[in-house]
Order: sequence, then C-alpha cells, then structure tokens
Amino acid sequence: MMTAQRSILVTSALPYANGPIHIGHLVEYIQTDIWARFQRMRGHRCYYVCADDAHGTPIMLRARQEGIDPETLIARVAEAHRADFRDFRISFDNYYSTHSPENQRFARLIYERNRDGGHIVRRTIRQAYDPVEKMFLPDRFIKGTCPKCGAEDQYGDNCEVCGASYSPAELKNPRSVVSGAVPEERESDHYFFRLRDFEDALRAWTRSGSLQPEVAHKLEEWFAAGLQEWDISRDAPYFGFEIPDHPGKYFYVWLDAPIGYMASFQNLCDRTPGLVFEDFWGLDAEAEIYHFIGKDIIYFHALFWPAMLQGAGFRTPSAVYAHGFLTVDGQKMSKSRGTFIQARTYLDHLNPEYLRYYFAAKLGPGVEDIDLNLEDFSRRVNADLVGKVVNIASRCAGFLTKRFEGELSPQLAEPALFAAFVQAGEAIAAAYEGRAFSRAVREIMALADRANQYIDEQAPWIVAKDPAQSERLQGICSLGINLFRVLMGYLRPILPATAEAAEQFLQIPPLTWDDLPNPLLAHRIAPFRPLMTRVDPKKIEAMLQAAKADLAATAPQAKKPAREPIAPEISYEDFAKLDLRIVRILEAEAVEGADRLLRLQVDLGDETRTVLAGIRAAYDPKDLVGKLTVLVANLAPRKMRFGVSEGMILAAGSGGRELFLLEPDAGAKPGMRVR
Ligand code: 2FM
Ligand code: ZN
Repeated sequence: MMTAQRSILVTSALPYANGPIHIGHLVEYIQTDIWARFQRMRGHRCYYVCADDAHGTPIMLRARQEGIDPETLIARVAEAHRADFRDFRISFDNYYSTHSPENQRFARLIYERNRDGGHIVRRTIRQAYDPVEKMFLPDRFIKGTCPKCGAEDQYGDNCEVCGASYSPAELKNPRSVVSGAVPEERESDHYFFRLRDFEDALRAWTRSGSLQPEVAHKLEEWFAAGLQEWDISRDAPYFGFEIPDHPGKYFYVWLDAPIGYMASFQNLCDRTPGLVFEDFWGLDAEAEIYHFIGKDIIYFHALFWPAMLQGAGFRTPSAVYAHGFLTVDGQKMSKSRGTFIQARTYLDHLNPEYLRYYFAAKLGPGVEDIDLNLEDFSRRVNADLVGKVVNIASRCAGFLTKRFEGELSPQLAEPALFAAFVQAGEAIAAAYEGRAFSRAVREIMALADRANQYIDEQAPWIVAKDPAQSERLQGICSLGINLFRVLMGYLRPILPATAEAAEQFLQIPPLTWDDLPNPLLAHRIAPFRPLMTRVDPKKIEAMLQAAKADLAATAPQAKKPAREPIAPEISYEDFAKLDLRIVRILEAEAVEGADRLLRLQVDLGDETRTVLAGIRAAYDPKDLVGKLTVLVANLAPRKMRFGVSEGMILAAGSGGRELFLLEPDAGAKPGMRVR
C-alpha cells in the first residue's frame, strides 16, 4: 500500500568522545538504525544524524592525563567511533561533532534567545574547588567518606554502598580525584535556565503522545516534585564553548549536546542540495523529529531540551523514545567478568549481523532492560537465521542452478502462499513502526517456518529424481526463492549486509517495501553462496578473552595522588609549643555509634589518658594493645559526642582507609618527650 511520503529526522544520543563504543551503546544505535532503514525502505525521506559529544570536564582531564590537546583526543576518538559504526552498518547520514562551528552558533543562538526571553538568571553558588589544579570540581571528581553510612571512597554526589544522595560539602574527608588535594568551597557566578517558565508547555507536550506511557508517568512525578532551575554554566578551565557575554564561563556540556543534533543536521543540509534546515526545525515544520535515547537521560531530553527549544523559537521533537540498558547474563556489564565488550572487540571475532539480529529479537517499544546471554545468542542466530531463513535459499538454489541455469519459473507454483507472505507485510511494518522489533521478528520467523514446511512437504530432492517432473521441480524451488526474497525484504532493516548479499544472489536492485508483492518470474539468479555461517563457539570464547585483555590495556592508569599541599609555614616557637610524648597503648576498644573511632587508654609514664582516635578503619583494637606511639600531650581536651579526648595520637595517612600509627624505635619509653 502506498502511503504519503514523510520527512523524518532521527537521532541517537551522542556518545562521549573519551571512550570506546561498547555493546551497551550498540543497543541504541542498532535500534535507531533499524528504524531509520525501515522508514527508508518504506519510501520515506528519513535522515539519521549523530555526532560525538565532545565537551566537558572528563574529556578535558582525559586529554590532560594523556598529555595531548582535547582537540587531538576528540579527533582520535571520533575516528574510532566512526569505524565502529561503519562496521556495524549504522547508516548515519551524518556523523559530526559537538565541537563544531555550527554547534557553537546554535548554542549561542539558543542561549541568547532564552536569555533575551528572561529565562536565564544569574546566581552565586558555592562549589568545591581544587586549589592545586585551580579548578572547580564536578561532584564526580570528589571522593570521600559517606556522611550517612561512613563508607569510604564514595563520590561527591551519592554513596554506592547505602544509596544516599548528598552534596559534596557533606562528604567527610573529601579529596579531589584530580589532584588528591582537600577541596575548598569557593563562590562563583553561574547561569541558570528557568525550567519552570515552561512547565505548562511541557505538560502539554508530555500529554501529546510524544513520550512512551511509562516515561510520561515519570514526568508527572517530576512535575509534582517541582521543576528546578538548571545550571547551564561552568567555570574555566573547561573544554566547551565560552558563553558570549561572560568570558571565563562556558556552556555546560549538557547544554550544547542536544543542540549537536541540530548542528549535525545543519552540516548535512549544507552539503545536500534540496535539504532545508527550516523544513525540519522551523516552528511550522511538517517534518517529524525523533530522538532515540537511553532511559538515563530522559530528564535532559524530555524537559530541558524541549524547553530550551521553545524558549528559542524552534519546534519541539515529535517524540522521544527511551530504551532500557543492556545486561549480560542478567547482570550489569562488568569489566572484571569480561562482559564489558567493546564494539571493536566484538567485530574482531563475530559477524555484526548476529548482534543486530539478536538485539532486534529482544527489543520492544518500552524501557525494559534487554539481556544478552551468549548461549541464547548462538542458539537463536543459528536456529533462526542460518537454520530457517538462509536454509530456504540453500535448499532451492542448487536445483535451479544445476538444472535450470538459475532461471526461475514464469509463474508462481502456489500464488496463495506467496500472497500470504505479502499480506503479513502490513503487520510486520506496523511492528517496525511502533519499535516492536521483537514482534516483527516473531512474525517473520513464523513465515520462515511456513516456507520450510512448504519445502519439506514438496520434497524437491525427491521430485528431482523424476525427469518428467522437471517443471514442477523448477516451480517448487522458484517459489521457495520468492518466499526467501520476501523474508529478506522484511529482514532488511535488521540485516543490511545479509540483505545486500541476498540481492546479489537474486540479481535484483535493493529491495523496497513496495516491491515485495511483485515476485521474480522468469528471472535468472546467481549461483548460491552461503549468506551466513553458524556462530562459532570458539570465536565467542576468544572474544570474551579479548574483552578481558582490553580491560587490562585500557584501565585508566591509577594516577598517583598528588602529595597533600604543605601547610603554611610556622616559626620554631610555634613548633616548640607542641609537647609530643611517647605513650604505650594500654587498652583499645571500638566506640559504639562511631564508625571511625577507637577509645584508647594510653600510659604517659606517670599518668593515664583517654584518647579518641579516628583509626578504626585501619586497626583492630586488640592489635594495638602494647604498642608505643606518639601523643600530642598538651592539646586542650576536646569534648566529642562520644566523650572527652585528652590529647591526640599521631598517624600518617592521606585521608582514606590507609593509616599508619607512628611508632618509635625499640628502647623508647612512655613519657619521653619527642623533639
Ligand atoms: O549520556 C551520554 O552519553 C551523553 N553523551 C548523551 C548526549 S545525548 C544528546 F543530548 F546529545
Ligand atoms: Zn553511604
């Protein structure tokens, strides 16, 4: 059935330019690509654009760590990303970068229009600052002890042990991940986007069918919780675009990232005659725009992005489609288990068409996670693609080549069967359109079963024995090939390389959906060559081994934390005020309710003191009894929540779990002064 031609722009989320593409990313690119290829096969004008997300602190720091410019880093990563996408047959019409002149222009424009519309406000905020690196620290670049549960080595925004969320200022013993220094709090002016100005419009947009039901529901929760102002600026040093009217301030990476969709499309328009930016992004544009994203970035795409667009006088997206995460064997991808598989590692060992098919067979329209189980993967690919689909052609082609010089019959042997295959097309198309790819695959495989059943029933290998039934043999095999052709047409969005090979074998131009009802009659096909081989279990094993090896090669080198800065100079007189004494620990016990503290009784020669020492993480109390150490003996008694500490014992450490009690050489006695 011919439908009116639609103009469609499709995007996938822009991958960060500081790391490789992995199979988790590929769920989204494969999903989007299947959808885009389907639309093109239906005869629509469908453009698929993407780009590297090139800005932000992690990219700046990664480049610094490698001793190169961020521009050099992002160019290198972009090349690797492009190669991975090309080899997985992701059919971008343009793959660009957010670090581009087009993106800078659009970021400025969108910012300025929102600013002029009164949607940007300045606020002074206090933020963690690394005095050694001379930079403000994003929350993820601060680590310390969780203020709620005491777990060490937790990020500045939330605790992976107890799940608590907090601000970096609440973190105990905070350290900059960049330099190891203790962060300071400093003030800075930031620019905020007033999301609340768009609340009514966003509610209307949310309810207009632009979101999956579960996502729309999530948005209702966010509306109910109240929309907060969004901080869109960052201080230098930062790798990004400077804010036009505020030197030294940069757009936060998440401001210019989605604008990268526009910039990539503009760049495509600039080199494609007849493709007009305004036809897609203008307020009255009739074209459709769809963003495919992961469920973790819904807030950015379903709130900030449409709001920014509205504030700048652009149209909003037709829909945002979120998908779930990839798990491997039911668990989060894990570097140590070797299930964190990079796209390139997969490509070095296995056919990308397998993974495209497996993901398609599992993808539905919702946001559920999808699981990759490698045994299931082999079983499915072997059974469905090799065992069912390709098998149809291989069962029929030999006879046609050997006996009929590849010539197909002039009529269909069973027009009704062929018609049933064609009729199934609308349901399959509806499944593709609604991103219910697993349903499309089920329907296609049910047809493949029918085709094989037909061949089983007709048994061409028996018919072939009877020279009098030559015409019948040609008819059976020709129908088999025609059924195969329709199936390859339906699978084409999922299996582009196999479909191309099938087109060569069938000696036909690229299949379109509208072509499918027209069978190949009295047409010559090429000799058959296997279109796909079975998954080799040895190759899966080799891939998993290689994934483990990648981990060793790419693990970020543990950066030696910089030495803590030396404290301001003091005079000798200041030092002389300290009375340091050797003490012997007589008793040690844990302090109930205080994760870090031990209560020590120490012998100072002729007196005993009680000291509360924050060394519980490093020492078992019973190992301390009898040890000699150093006490600051003239420190004013300090009243703590758990009692009074009469002095302080000395231990070395960098603020983490590692602590080393100072012990004198043998012979020192309790009460001796340390000078
Ligand atoms: O989450 C991410 O990986 C981001 N780089 C996605 C950006 S999508 C878009 F907004 F650019
Ligand atoms: Zn915690």
